[in-house]
Amino acid sequence: MIMSKSDVMQAAWFDKFGPANDVLTLGEIAKPRAAAGEVLIRMKTTGVNPSDVKKRAGAFPDLLDGGSVVPHSDGAGVIESVGEGVSSQRIGERVWVYQAQFARRFGSAAQYLAIDASRAALLPENTSFEVGACLGIPMMTSHRCVFSDGPVEGMTVLITGGAGRVGYYAIQWARQAGARVIATASNDTDKSACESIGADLVVNHRQENWAEAVMSFTRGEKVDRVIDVEFGANLSEVLKLIGTGGTIATYSSTRVKEPKLPFLQMMYLNLSLHLVIVYAMPEVAKQAAITDINAKLANDEFQHRIAHVLDFEDIARSHELIEQGGFRGCVVVRIE
Ligand SMILES: NC(=O)c1ccc[n+]([C@@H]2O[C@H](COP(=O)([O-])OP(=O)(O)OC[C@H]3O[C@@H](n4cnc5c(N)ncnc54)[C@H](OP(=O)(O)O)[C@@H]3O)[C@@H](O)[C@H]2O)c1
Repeated sequence: MIMSKSDVMQAAWFDKFGPANDVLTLGEIAKPRAAAGEVLIRMKTTGVNPSDVKKRAGAFPDLLDGGSVVPHSDGAGVIESVGEGVSSQRIGERVWVYQAQFARRFGSAAQYLAIDASRAALLPENTSFEVGACLGIPMMTSHRCVFSDGPVEGMTVLITGGAGRVGYYAIQWARQAGARVIATASNDTDKSACESIGADLVVNHRQENWAEAVMSFTRGEKVDRVIDVEFGANLSEVLKLIGTGGTIATYSSTRVKEPKLPFLQMMYLNLSLHLVIVYAMPEVAKQAAITDINAKLANDEFQHRIAHVLDFEDIARSHELIEQGGFRGCVVVRIE
């Protein structure tokens, strides 16, 4: 069947795992339609996160079983049409999307995205499409980590890796919700970044016994919550500073992939351990995060950091940048 121009769109995809430059293809594929309950979004930006890069490299061996994959979960755009059951008043709405490539093959790295209407949240007028591409993973994960065990007002919260994409938002959630915030960073620039968004203390997680600096600052008072980016590597220090009944909400453990838990020590501290994965947040937590995120955006209360904005033709480079690291902030690819 010959397809007309209006039936196709530009997209990036991969049908085998490997280095970005080898396996990411740019070209034309069929333009999707909004099915019942869906919206069709003309995408302006797509956000690149470590999980997108790991998926393309082969972290989930059965990912391609159903066919090629258009990568990326985050992005932003404008609703062009709606499927049955979705109000036509949403046509023309600016939106940010999340989970575009989770349990589905067609992510946000394309001119058009057809997705469940609930996965397209209103993007306030004052918020750019670039920022809109940073919300689904970094900002939602940080919200879940900070609030998974309830409000933090009056608590002391430790946020490791406070200058990271998730950590930077976590500091702002915790501080603006009334917590005393202690962050970790490994250099002066990151330390200043954490301080500028409200961290009360920043200690260096690359220095041995860094928990001692935390305890000295709090005069021995233990920490209520820990938001942790390197669970296995940091556990021994974290256990020196977390109080009885405390919570560790962790979203990554890349250096120590199968950490050993000192069970008795943790049990006698009556600790709660939350292993957070943004995709599997309970729906009610996703909706709570969206409401809170949009309030912060509308009032311009959060700082955002976008390290790189690339053109669509450079999408492979966007993956390489995430793999190489060495910068702070989100990586966004402009689609139009
Ligand atoms: N579970 C989820 O839902 C979820 C969601 C988002 C991200 N993630 C995962 O979380 C990880 C971080 O993602 P990201 O996008 O935030 O990355 P990022 O922007 O590169 O930030 C990582 C931060 O962690 C810091 N860090 C490294 N080792 C540390 C340690 N031992 N203690 C404290 N901080 C340390 C880094 O600082 P230095 O380099 O200066 O040490 C950096 O500031 C990735 O593995 C990603 O896949 C998981």
